[in-house]
Amino acid sequence: MPELSLELSRLPRHIGIIMDGNGRWAKKNKLKIAVGHRAGTEALRAIIRNASDIGIQALSLYAFSTENWSRPQGEVDALMGLLLDFFQSEIDELCRKNVRILILGEKNGLPPAQRQALTDAETRTAGNTGLWLNIAVNYGGRAELARAARSIAQAVADGQLEPNAVNEQTVEDRLYTAGLPPVDLLIRTSGEMRLSNFMLWQCAYAEFVFPTTLWPDFTLGDFHACIAEYQNRSRRYGSREEH
Ligand code: FPP
Repeated sequence: MPELSLELSRLPRHIGIIMDGNGRWAKKNKLKIAVGHRAGTEALRAIIRNASDIGIQALSLYAFSTENWSRPQGEVDALMGLLLDFFQSEIDELCRKNVRILILGEKNGLPPAQRQALTDAETRTAGNTGLWLNIAVNYGGRAELARAARSIAQAVADGQLEPNAVNEQTVEDRLYTAGLPPVDLLIRTSGEMRLSNFMLWQCAYAEFVFPTTLWPDFTLGDFHACIAEYQNRSRRYGSREEH
């Protein structure tokens, strides 16, 4: 592990990452887009390992949005292939590291092999107690909130819930991330400064860091620099006091 200048007692509990820039990295290096996504997956492995090692509670990664289906079929196929490869090649080590995998998004919309692999990974790691590794696949933040609203409407229609009793916790309990801490630090690489429908509810009080590095070039040093920047921020949650 590289030398850390991080305060390990003040780590963000939950880090979200929008891994942006694979396409531009491929173009810059005159490579095919699929090679960019493969290089992005390599960058990812080191970050996951380190997040687990330093004691981050939850790491949420935006792997494939509901809007990504509109990309050229070859690119969608490449991303789906990488997803499968990732779970097949990493699952043993993730288990050894006590990592719990949680899929954020609609698994039913995925091809059968991917659906099976993701479900198996969740089942196999369900009893683990280390890092929560949340992979957003076929995920949209608005769709997640609509899903929660549907579930609340159903509970009201079934007479299990009073409309006046609906509060923030009622919504929270119906998110994919129910029971996890909110996102403290949101990182988006490549210089883009948007949320792009990622964890809209969970990022309500997140600190945003936007490094210009393209995702395949993102190193552990960059990761720690983002955490160090987070640790320099003053978080007040609307009050005058720092938290
Ligand atoms: C954004 O780059 C990245 C994605 C749409 C996919 C991210 C996926 C991976 C890093 C690999 C697969 C994930 C797992 C969990 C195995 P972009 O293509 O939009 O980049 P650009 O904006 O430069 O074109």
